Amino acid sequence: MLRFCADTFFAKRYGHRAVILETVAGVPGMVAGMLRHMRSLRRMEDDHGWIRTLLDEAENERMHLMTFIEIAKPNWFERFLILLAQGMFFSGFLLLYIISAKTAHRLVGYFEEEAVYSYSCYLEEVDNGAIENIPAPQVAIDYWDLAADARLRDVIIAVRADEANHRDVNHDFANQLAG
Ligand SMILES: [Fe+2]
Ligand SMILES: [Fe+2]
Repeated sequence: MLRFCADTFFAKRYGHRAVILETVAGVPGMVAGMLRHMRSLRRMEDDHGWIRTLLDEAENERMHLMTFIEIAKPNWFERFLILLAQGMFFSGFLLLYIISAKTAHRLVGYFEEEAVYSYSCYLEEVDNGAIENIPAPQVAIDYWDLAADARLRDVIIAVRADEANHRDVNHDFANQLAG
């Protein structure tokens, strides 16, 4: 259902899609990391490295945003949506994580799978020439250590690999919490 909404709203504007969805993608890792940090303090228990992994995920998503903001600039309506989405998603995800961390990680796992799919569609548009394969932004070259002459195509592949990793990590966390 969410995919249908995103497909309808963004159509083939993959740059805008990336910017707006990455503003949301940076939320779960930070919320989950914060809650686990607080829990570790409260219970005086080790977190088995989960907090670092979750905060790294949030940072990685924010770098996706810093990259795509160089490629597409949101209009005022999209900026308003970002504001609204952050308020709703932050609160909603916080509540969900408190109620069921397992469900929250599972949900993120499915979101990340959709992100992998979306970046594959983006890549297809670049490969068939519908979207110009522009030079990669410097911030992306520095972050992923890409070649100096890297292009949008290389950036999309690097971002998609990150999303695939987030998918696996979150499904694994959900599995661990399940049993
Ligand atoms: Fe991302
Ligand atoms: Fe992601």
